[in-house]
Amino acid sequence: MDKELKKLVFATNNRHKLDEAREILAGRFEILSLTDIGCSDDIPETAPDLKGNALIKARWIYDRYGYDCFADDTGLMVDALGGEPGVMSARYAGPGHDSEANMMKLLKNMEGSADRKAHFSTAVVLIMEGKEYLFEGRVEGRIAETPGGENGFGYDPVFVADETGKRFAEMSAEEKNAISHRGRAMRALADFLDRGGLPR
Ligand code: IMP
Repeated sequence: MDKELKKLVFATNNRHKLDEAREILAGRFEILSLTDIGCSDDIPETAPDLKGNALIKARWIYDRYGYDCFADDTGLMVDALGGEPGVMSARYAGPGHDSEANMMKLLKNMEGSADRKAHFSTAVVLIMEGKEYLFEGRVEGRIAETPGGENGFGYDPVFVADETGKRFAEMSAEEKNAISHRGRAMRALADFLDRGGLPR
C-alpha cells in the first residue's frame, strides 16, 4: 500500500495549475484543491501586488481551514504600459474575466508602441506550521503585434518568450512549463520542500 502522504492545499480550483503542481510535487505531498477541502469562498484579491494577493489567499485557508497550504498570483507586466496590466491581469478589460477581451485591450493599448518588452511574474506563498515563505518566478519576453498559436490560455497568444523566440501559445505545455514564471516559482517551492523546509 502507498504510504500516506502529507496533505498540502493549493488554494485554487484551476485544473491546469493543479495538474502542474501535482506533477512537480509528485510523491512528496498529496495536493488538495479548494473543492477537496469544501471551500467555495470567494477569497478577496484586494492587495496592491502579487505577493499580497498570494498571502491573502494562503492566510485565508490556513486561518479558516487549518491546512498547511500555498497560494499563487500571477501578472503580466508590460514596460510601455508602466507595468500594466500587472496585478489587474485577470480583470484588465473589466469584470467578467474574459481572456480574449483582456488580450484585445492589451494589443489596443500597445498600438504604435515600438517598445514591446514585458515579463510574467508569479508569487507563491507557502504557510507551513504557521510560518510564511515566499517564492517567485519570472520570464522575460515581448508582446507580439498579433495573436497566434493554439495552446495555453490567457495572454499566451501574444507573449513571445525571449528564451525560445516563440509565443507561449506556440509551445507545448512541457516547453512552456520549463521556462515559465509559474513553473519557476513552483520548482522553487518544490526545491524548498525537498530540503525539508530549510532555506538554501
Ligand atoms: P492567476 O493569478 O494565475 O489567476 O493569473 C492572473 C491572470 O494572469 C490570468 O487570468 C491570466 O489572464 C494571466 N496569466 C496567468 N498566467 C498566465 C500564463 O501562463 N499565460 C498567459 N496568461 C497568464
